[in-house]
Amino acid sequence: MKDYSCNNECNSVAKCDIFEFMAKHVGMTVIHPGGFEATNTLLKYLNITSNSKVIDIACGKGTTAMLIAEKYGCNVAAIDIDEKLIEEANYLTKKKGLESKITYYVGDALKLPFNDNEFDVAISQAMLVLVDDKIKAIQEANRVIKKGGAAGWLELSWKKEVTKNFIEKVSTVICAYCMTNVTTFDGWKKTFIDAGINNLNIIPLDFSPTNGGFISMVKDEGFFRTLSIMYNIMKNKEIKNRMKIMNNFFKENSDIFGCGIYYFNK
Ligand SMILES: C[S@@+](CC[C@H](N)C(=O)[O-])C[C@H]1O[C@@H](n2cnc3c(N)ncnc32)[C@H](O)[C@@H]1O
Repeated sequence: MKDYSCNNECNSVAKCDIFEFMAKHVGMTVIHPGGFEATNTLLKYLNITSNSKVIDIACGKGTTAMLIAEKYGCNVAAIDIDEKLIEEANYLTKKKGLESKITYYVGDALKLPFNDNEFDVAISQAMLVLVDDKIKAIQEANRVIKKGGAAGWLELSWKKEVTKNFIEKVSTVICAYCMTNVTTFDGWKKTFIDAGINNLNIIPLDFSPTNGGFISMVKDEGFFRTLSIMYNIMKNKEIKNRMKIMNNFFKENSDIFGCGIYYFNK
């Protein structure tokens, strides 16, 4: 699998993987399809209460962990393989005064450092596309939730079967190497079945990456961060150019790009 590693000094603005580009060069903190609107829809299916023990797997900068802690007042564990993102998540969480509610871990979704049946709810967004062993990732989430608990994913999903040529373009035109692993809603269903999950619920969301725009960015990132993101884009020609190429590609292929909620109760 492609090495996604990248940092702010990598000089690969034009070529690093799309999620690294969005997180580390553009400066976004909500890095999954559909943004918080989709997250809030997913949360409705997970029955979280103030007493729930929740884990956010592949939490990135911790934005969903913070949303959950604020919304439900419950305790959240959040884990990501990228140490730099966890550093930023800790910083942003302290800034929000939520550090007593959220504990961050650097670790692998394929080998979660938690006991069996430890959590009431597991949530994971835009992670399965990034790991080779998707089945193991699903099984690990299932392992750490209690019987009766819930696990939910939000993943980019093709609305229809795609051609080899399209997948090649995903890589060569927008450098979304991780998206070459995306599949259709039925494809994801098969992956969950292969992981032993037979009671999966799927909610296709009306999502297109071009639906976003300024307003939805403000909703996700807040006004001041949106300004800083805009500044990052405007001040760097390479970033600006890549954003333009990406937006055009998404627009041209809006009949393909979709996203889905995948959830089940153990
Ligand atoms: C597209 S980002 C999504 C981040 C966050 N869930 C969000 O919605 O904003 C994918 C995240 O998966 C993390 N990741 C990739 N492989 C992982 C693994 N094996 N274990 C844990 N995290 C992983 C990346 O570091 C990154 O933060």
